[in-house]
Amino acid sequence: MVKTSAPGKCILFGEHAVVYGQPALACSINQRMTVEIEKEETFDSWRLDGRTFKPKKHPHIEYIRKHLPPLDDQPLHIRIRGTIPKASGLGSSAALSVALCGALQQIREESIDLLQVSSISHHAEAEAQGGRASPMDTATSSFGGFVVLSDTIEENLDFIETRTMEVNGQTRQWHLHTFDANIPEGVSLVVGNTGVHGSTSAMVNQVANLIRENPERKIELETIGAIARRGIQSLQEGDMEAVGQAMSENHMVLRSLGVSSPEIERLIRAAAPSSLGVKLTGAGGGGCMIALTRNPEQTVGAIEMEGGRAFITHFNEEGLRIEHII
Ligand code: MEV
Repeated sequence: MVKTSAPGKCILFGEHAVVYGQPALACSINQRMTVEIEKEETFDSWRLDGRTFKPKKHPHIEYIRKHLPPLDDQPLHIRIRGTIPKASGLGSSAALSVALCGALQQIREESIDLLQVSSISHHAEAEAQGGRASPMDTATSSFGGFVVLSDTIEENLDFIETRTMEVNGQTRQWHLHTFDANIPEGVSLVVGNTGVHGSTSAMVNQVANLIRENPERKIELETIGAIARRGIQSLQEGDMEAVGQAMSENHMVLRSLGVSSPEIERLIRAAAPSSLGVKLTGAGGGGCMIALTRNPEQTVGAIEMEGGRAFITHFNEEGLRIEHII
């Protein structure tokens, strides 16, 4: 039996603008997905949580199964657990793909190869989403810590890899980086979930329409890129006031692009007085917000008073991890 786990993620800077080539920063969170795999002894087909595995229902699992098959071709039983809320923009699907890749590498008696995990799980997510997935979620879940995605190789960051992928007949390319953040004691991140499902594709299309009809508003995406670079530098310097300020500025531009929602704004207003900075995280239209805070319990309480669900997470949560091997 092999058990692995991988973290979810939140976006600290740069959502939406990253679709147009600007840098974005994601960090791992302490909510994880866990995958347990053992050889299926009773049935001669693969099983998922006690039922026959249906490839069409789980295209990302099917993609990974095909690319990392067990060496003896014996069917396996996959069990999935986890604490990352689904469809909330926190990367639960990517974390599942990453944990599964790691578990299958173990079953194949290979050592963990994070670059392979990050690549296969990214392709699996893209396949499941009809071609459109950036490598941000899967890379952050694989490597843990901070991951910066950009269309250019960013100076002053540690380069991880360049990823290319054919998307609808076009070659897309992303450069992935990480860096050492200097986070002082006592600063944490609070994630607040509106419980409202925001559709990523609807939000991305909404921004695309806005930019098509008002090309001059592309400057707002460039502004987000500039805020992201400044926020990353402040994280390297350990200046948390400046990080919080950059987060709040990033949120104001996202709001002006029309991707916030009344539910997000309510949680933002509740969290702001006890926080250094607040913003929505992910595609918006619902989903989650984050607060950088020195008073995490107070911030959680304020968000919950407004009907949100909240949890505290710390920085530098580990990426893919082997939990157990028998
Ligand atoms: C969604 O989590 C982040 C977006 O920037 C979309 C994307 O990067 O594919 C809104």
